[in-house]
Amino acid sequence: MTVSAVIAGLGAWLPPGVVTNNDLCSRLDTSEEWIESRTGIVERRAVSGGMATLDLAVEAGGRALKAAGVSGVDAVVVATTSPDRICPAGAPEVASRLGLGPIAAYDLTSACSGFVYGLATCAGLISAGIAKSVLFIGSEAFSTFIDPANRTTAPIFGDGAGAVVLRCGSPEEPGAIGPFDLGSDGAQADLLAINGGGSRQRSATGLGHGEVPTEDWYLSMAGRAIYQQAIARMTESSLAVLDRAGWSVTEVDRFVGHQANIRILNSVAQRLGIAPERALINIDRVGNALSASIPLVLAGAAAGGELRPGDRVLITAFGAGLSWGSTVLVWPDISIDSPL
Ligand code: ACO
Repeated sequence: MTVSAVIAGLGAWLPPGVVTNNDLCSRLDTSEEWIESRTGIVERRAVSGGMATLDLAVEAGGRALKAAGVSGVDAVVVATTSPDRICPAGAPEVASRLGLGPIAAYDLTSACSGFVYGLATCAGLISAGIAKSVLFIGSEAFSTFIDPANRTTAPIFGDGAGAVVLRCGSPEEPGAIGPFDLGSDGAQADLLAINGGGSRQRSATGLGHGEVPTEDWYLSMAGRAIYQQAIARMTESSLAVLDRAGWSVTEVDRFVGHQANIRILNSVAQRLGIAPERALINIDRVGNALSASIPLVLAGAAAGGELRPGDRVLITAFGAGLSWGSTVLVWPDISIDSPL
């Protein structure tokens, strides 16, 4: 019998600190009009006072467990590109703080496509019989990796976390995830990178402790090139997964793209032939929350009634790596625990 991973509960959380476009204008050479018209972002959330990625992960993870009505799972997986520390992985700490016992726990890094890659990985754990249930969390405090003085990157990214509980089920039931389309292009890795702190820099001749150049400490981004790649890759990947699922574009009720830029989302939807009103959007309030972006937009839309049980959902994401991925599911009748 074929076994699938099925979504049993969804939780989300945002840190309380709001950063408006007006706040950014007070310290950057930019305008509210430029940021909103070029990105679609009006405000985003940011951690402060020592709050970090795993704090957000515990909040969202606890809400997903509550929404699913379970107190235990067989594994915890955390997707993040803003880990609390390089070592160890954060998922064991999340499992411990949620009182889940000595279960399997590990992290996964795939930037903005982290949620789709993580869904695929967790679905694999379930279909291989390694776990019967998984708590999967996308969590980011990526604002801490952004140069506050960089007017191109500072407006874009926001912090937050979203989580799903996945259980073992049948491929035919609502909430069953898949098929998937996943891809990467490492030849373009430098388009979006944080160079400081890794083994390459540590092993570089003459670069010692305390000598990391400031620009390497933060994200560097070739915005225009990323923009073009995002549109092309999300469009191609969406078409590939729809083909694999045997769905036509007209059968898609809800289009859920990684919230990178409203113009990217509109362009992908237009190329696919999906009407703008079928796209789920939260970038205006949340910004680009990397691996947390997709569960945050799903949680807000499901809690607000925009996403309903039975809706056919197309999910697609693109990010650093470069990496991209897409999947589909029929939205299940589940509880949501979300502040959105
Ligand atoms: N305010 C005013 N002007 C600005 C700002 C700002 N905040 N930022 C850039 N500009 C200027 C640039 O300096 C440039 O000026 P110039 O023409 O004098 O050189 C001009 O605006 C146009 O710059 P572009 O980069 O061509 O602007 P664009 O329309 O492409 O918008 C943006 C820039 C918003 C960054 C866009 O390229 C984008 O969204 N790219 C994708 C970014 C993204 O999604 N990154 C995350 C990927 S996912 C992940 O894995 C992390």
